[in-house]
Amino acid sequence: MTEPAALGGADLPLAYSEEELLADGAYEAPLHAGSIRCHGGFDAEGSYRSPRTLHRAPAIRAWQARLAADGHPLLAIDPSLMPPQYPNVEQARLLLEEGVRDPVVRRLTIIAIVEGFGAIIRDVRVPELSELVVEPIEGTALAHLRGGLFEAHARDEAGYRDQGGHKQMWEAARDLALESPKVPGDVLMRMMGQGPGRRRERKALFPRIDRDLEALLATMAQVLAVEVFAMGAFDWGERLLSDPAVSADPEGAGALVSYIRSDESPHVEYLRTALSEIAARTLRTVDGGTLPGRSVVHGLLHATLRGLTRERREEQRGDIRESLVEAMKQHANPAGLLERFDALETRWTPPERTGFEPTEPPAAA
Ligand SMILES: [Fe+2]
Ligand SMILES: [Fe+2]
Repeated sequence: MTEPAALGGADLPLAYSEEELLADGAYEAPLHAGSIRCHGGFDAEGSYRSPRTLHRAPAIRAWQARLAADGHPLLAIDPSLMPPQYPNVEQARLLLEEGVRDPVVRRLTIIAIVEGFGAIIRDVRVPELSELVVEPIEGTALAHLRGGLFEAHARDEAGYRDQGGHKQMWEAARDLALESPKVPGDVLMRMMGQGPGRRRERKALFPRIDRDLEALLATMAQVLAVEVFAMGAFDWGERLLSDPAVSADPEGAGALVSYIRSDESPHVEYLRTALSEIAARTLRTVDGGTLPGRSVVHGLLHATLRGLTRERREEQRGDIRESLVEAMKQHANPAGLLERFDALETRWTPPERTGFEPTEPPAAA
């Protein structure tokens, strides 16, 4: 994910219609998760092929190749910034083995709900970028955000028409592995209390640029960070649900999570490409001046990453722990179990630097 994905993209077209960016290839067989028909499918060799990547995958490679050919870096979020999972795989396994299933069911349900929230990306307002960016944007990922990229992303996450997406695939994986467990009734409510609603009150970091432009770039920075960090949750899910000691369908549940993981790659790639394209350009300010795109993109990523690795992580851990202690009360020895659980915790301190520090000197480009 951090190495340049531009290899081989140099001869590909740079402009695509919305229909092209949303087009599936032909599949030999469709994907079913339990009784639900899902997106994507299998080729003649039986390998999974992600949905809507027939043109979208080569398109992203082409835009990345162009960025590289123009001498601009492709930005990347350092994986060491990714907070560990709480509970981690060993802790989750302990809980399941001890019959305390609620925290794991809750965690898997939250992942499914967050995937479904991904559909809001199609409602993000995209201002007239050619008026707000000094350099031309034809033939870039930026020029295709509204023309297919956001819509493909939304469909991948939340499903589309008769096809399930990641939301339904995670629910199916949970139900296969844990045999359709009872889902705690307060999952969504607890999430709403601490979740995306708050994000709306974000204060402008760059009041000199168009408000919609900052909101767009801030959302993209936030979603990119969430997508990169989700890799940790997906790795957690795949390892846990593939474990025959705790999973009723290690093969089926584990495979579903692995398909979801491969679908995420285009999300990370188009978002970091479009943000890199902005970072390589100059933004017009509302007072008639300009601002280097790099300082805006880096400033937004820095703020997002600081928040996600510090306050946000503490809040989430606190909330999870609260419901965990509650769930353990049904165990014969709650104190003993909590002690064993805590002994398995992954110790972690967020890295000092995000890699997008605003004090870094602007690129010579
Ligand atoms: Fe997803
Ligand atoms: Fe995603």
